[in-house]
Amino acid sequence: MADAEGIIESKEKDFGIGVPVKTEGFYLKGMDHMSWGIKDRLRRMFNPESGRTVMLAFDHGYIMGPTSGLERLDLNIVPLIPYADSLMCTKAALRTVVPPTANKPICLRSSAGTTILTELNDEVVIDPEEAIRMNASTMAVMVSVGGRYEAKTVANLVKTADAGYRYGIPTMGVTAVGKELARDARYLSMASRVCAENGATIVKTYYCNEHFERVVNSCPVPIVVAGGKKLPEKEALELCYKAICGGASGVDMGRNVFQSESPVAMIQAVGAVVHNNLNPEQAFEMFNDLKSDLVSV
Ligand code: R5P
Repeated sequence: MADAEGIIESKEKDFGIGVPVKTEGFYLKGMDHMSWGIKDRLRRMFNPESGRTVMLAFDHGYIMGPTSGLERLDLNIVPLIPYADSLMCTKAALRTVVPPTANKPICLRSSAGTTILTELNDEVVIDPEEAIRMNASTMAVMVSVGGRYEAKTVANLVKTADAGYRYGIPTMGVTAVGKELARDARYLSMASRVCAENGATIVKTYYCNEHFERVVNSCPVPIVVAGGKKLPEKEALELCYKAICGGASGVDMGRNVFQSESPVAMIQAVGAVVHNNLNPEQAFEMFNDLKSDLVSV
């Protein structure tokens, strides 16, 4: 017990009478009323100055196995970690490859099931205690709106998001678009909104060339954009730029980074678009400069 003797009581205590308590909003869309734990975790993922994030996605192995660019996570991904704001991966990647000293917020792949060899999206969710054990900053769950497993994947999201709100962990709804569905603003805004309405704190979806702002504006929580299949670097940087201009709160990019001819240069160029508003030409120049510097080392 503290020693009660010697405590000095000032005669003139300052209670700040007349000074209103500062009430601050939170810098991410729709997050004002979230709990302290959720805001703290979001603060780790989204840069408070730009309000955006570069998430490095390398969870692909859970449905694809050792896809190109991810044959050896220790060799392919570890060198990129310093340049990412957040890492999106599976529990296994964390336990076996990502150094705990990396001190990066983790978006933990929290649903799993079928692989590309059968039919995707027939998934179950992990026990949220696993996410707590791994100190996850977000739990990511696949949601297949309009797909065969729609009800099951929406239920997965609801279950994970409920647990997330209980423990102060954000949940990311990952919109899975089946081959038969058009990736247009009409579909993407519906899928994103369904995720948000069912509890997602963040939504990950795709960019679309027309009316992407409608997708962002009709979603009450932050949207991050997936990179999708590998594009030439300049086109991938254009995609990032247009998504940011359309109101995305960042990217969650995988193949366009780790399958790039220079992944370390590419992730830095993506970061410059996301956080520093570089246009695609400037970012591509940066990519080429970094690439040649890395070659000449
Ligand atoms: C997809 O299911 C995975 O969750 C990936 O993380 C996601 O698609 C982002 O990676 P990419 O930029 O390669 O599309």
